[in-house]
Amino acid sequence: MAYLSKDYFCQGYTLLYMKHTKIAELLKSTDFDKEVTVNGWVRSRRGGKSVAFIAVNDGSTIHTIQVVTEIAKFSEETLKGVTTGACISATGKLVKSQGQGQSVEIQAEKISVLGAADVETYPLQKKGHTLEFLRDIAHLRPRTNTFGAILRLRHHISFAIHTFFNDRGFFYLHTPIITGSDAEGAGEMFHVTNLDLEKLPKTSDGKIDFEKDFFGKQTNLTVSGQLEGELGAMGVGLVYTFGPTFRAENSNTPRHLAEFWMIEPEMAFHEINDNMDVAESMLKSVISYVLEICKDDLAFLCEHYDKELLNRLNMVANATFKRITYTEAIDILEKSGKKFEFLVKWGIDMQREHENFLVEHFNVPVIVTNYPKDIKAFYMKQNDDGKTVRGMDVLFPYVGEIIGGSQREDNYDKLLTRMKEMNIPEKEMWWYLETRKFGTCPHSGFGLGLERLVLFITGMTNVRDVIPFPRTPKNAEF
Ligand code: 4AD
Ligand code: MG
Repeated sequence: MAYLSKDYFCQGYTLLYMKHTKIAELLKSTDFDKEVTVNGWVRSRRGGKSVAFIAVNDGSTIHTIQVVTEIAKFSEETLKGVTTGACISATGKLVKSQGQGQSVEIQAEKISVLGAADVETYPLQKKGHTLEFLRDIAHLRPRTNTFGAILRLRHHISFAIHTFFNDRGFFYLHTPIITGSDAEGAGEMFHVTNLDLEKLPKTSDGKIDFEKDFFGKQTNLTVSGQLEGELGAMGVGLVYTFGPTFRAENSNTPRHLAEFWMIEPEMAFHEINDNMDVAESMLKSVISYVLEICKDDLAFLCEHYDKELLNRLNMVANATFKRITYTEAIDILEKSGKKFEFLVKWGIDMQREHENFLVEHFNVPVIVTNYPKDIKAFYMKQNDDGKTVRGMDVLFPYVGEIIGGSQREDNYDKLLTRMKEMNIPEKEMWWYLETRKFGTCPHSGFGLGLERLVLFITGMTNVRDVIPFPRTPKNAEF
């Protein structure tokens, strides 16, 4: 398995580009007096006439390495280019640091400026910037401590999710991004077309003639991979999707994106309780993983943004989630004596304030099940009471709904009736209905919004700050 070994990749880098070592590795090294090369971006430069101290970061860790530079050894031209934001390559001896705050430093013998940064116009200065300001310079924000930490965490969270499912025998299923169906039945979809919008072809009754469109029918960007996920589960048992999801809902809130990433497991032979077990253990497993792997980044975010962050993550990783029915939830809200802004009565779609109250009430994540059928999607399994369906939402402290899922209706007649009642075009969904005609079985699944989880884990307060390039109403820059 040499081709998969770590060495292979390290050598690969050497061949590709000048030999250099990642700062994350240098800071752990005790190989003193060895000549090393570091490549990265200058965070700051200080010092006097004889020595300059250059703090360099390459994104492999939140920490910088100090490059100690004797001014006399270098040309004025070179040193002029070593300013905040410039990209440099420095070679020299790795030595035990004299100063405080770092274990090792590099005594520079050679410095080259790979890319200068104009001092007058480079927008990132050493003083902190607001998150709002950084959103406007999303092309540069990966170079900040905050976004470096968030991007690394986002990677490790994604990796932990793949690992969780892979370890349990799930198969990663790639569901389509362009789709002809509206999985959630909510109609909040972006159209996909290559028709000339200035000259739309019309049918004899004046409607747009989608037969002339690229796919010969009306198509959209997917709002969920679930329906196709179910098709996969009905053959290979356990699947999950992990892909971009698009919703044209005009909700300009700190929790909604028009383009977000969703993880959707779909499991044959799983009922609603099994579904909850998988959701709970996945969330705890991912949080435990990052607590172990991303200590420095989490410590930084805890210190600078949210002093309670680590406590909250540890609490959830070790909690037993509270499971209650929707009816019980409404009862708790009604008896709370609290004045809510939005009316509480059986049948409402719970608002953020209601979800928050429940989580605070139990002081652990809450899973609510058995929702009124009228506020949930057509595919959820109907209970015998004729009023509720086997849906489940996982509510988290701080972010509210993090997961939505359900056991699926596996009875052909009940599913068809519900589709008719909810005006879901059954003709277009023939393939979905057929799974209930040919070898149907009890099955369940859920959708985890990646950004909501990253929000919870990083302690950020706006989803725009946990995805590299957010897409929201009136905003598709970068
Ligand atoms: O509750 P939702 O709409 O459920 C579904 O889409 C199901 N098809 C999932 C399934 O059963 N396979 O969305 C699932 C999760 C939400 O709980 C939330 O975390 C996230 O996706 N989400 C969003 N995240 C960011 N921006 C948005 N606009 C989101 N809409 C949903
Ligand atoms: Mg939902």
